[in-house]
Amino acid sequence: MTPSSNETNGGKLQVCKEQSGKGASYGAAGGVGSFAVQFAKSGGLLVAATCGTANVEYVRSLGADRVIDYKTEDVCRAVREWSAEGVDVVLDAVGPATLPQALDLLRPGGRLVSILTATADGDIERDRKEAERRGFRKVTMIIDFERARDSMREITNLIDAGLVHVPPIHVLLLEDAALAHQMIDTGHVRGKLVLKVAELYARSPRRDTIAATAACTCGV
Ligand SMILES: NC(=O)c1ccc[n+]([C@@H]2O[C@H](COP(=O)([O-])OP(=O)(O)OC[C@H]3O[C@@H](n4cnc5c(N)ncnc54)[C@H](OP(=O)(O)O)[C@@H]3O)[C@@H](O)[C@H]2O)c1
Repeated sequence: MTPSSNETNGGKLQVCKEQSGKGASYGAAGGVGSFAVQFAKSGGLLVAATCGTANVEYVRSLGADRVIDYKTEDVCRAVREWSAEGVDVVLDAVGPATLPQALDLLRPGGRLVSILTATADGDIERDRKEAERRGFRKVTMIIDFERARDSMREITNLIDAGLVHVPPIHVLLLEDAALAHQMIDTGHVRGKLVLKVAELYARSPRRDTIAATAACTCGV
């Protein structure tokens, strides 16, 4: 778990709190999405969440009311079948290139929240204006350290109350940082990766086992 994903989701949590009704989370099995689905549920929203086939059961276990397998289903059609009028808020944690029709998922006046990825954000200003032209609001979220303390406290309370569960965390040794990057580059890490910077061990079977177990979860 990193402060960045918590803070990103803390912002999303605040977005969810202002809403009631239905939300859609795109990229729900990742570190950001895993928290976002649970925060939306704890905030009282009904949630449709997307993921690949291998993560369908996992995302269902997060509490999603409708799990959409983006590899076998048309996301836009599936959301509209689930909620004919569209949803109140969409969280895109993957990038506009993979969800160009995001605005079509929204009910009139709805909100599209994009997590700034720094690699796949497209033309942020153009997309914001396009959303505005169509009567929607597009918000681009980035870590806000000013709000981090309050968000972290609130998130800790949700975890302590059993309303939110920490997603899978794969711990890798610092010397496996390159492998961690390879795993992140697949775009299919479930939960979060953590690099352990203290208590470095000499190369050993245990270290190999840790790395191999973590890597196989995302096919590296
Ligand atoms: N702005 C900020 O402050 C902030 C903070 C934290 C993270 N981020 C960024 O937010 C993004 C998400 O972070 P994360 O840690 O959740 O990433 P992640 O662990 O890599 O998760 C990405 C998710 O995207 C899904 N995905 C991959 N390819 C897809 C495709 N073609 N179509 C639909 N879904 C696809 C994966 O689902 P499957 O594995 O099920 O296919 C996975 O659940 C990253 O780009 C990260 O850099 C931004």
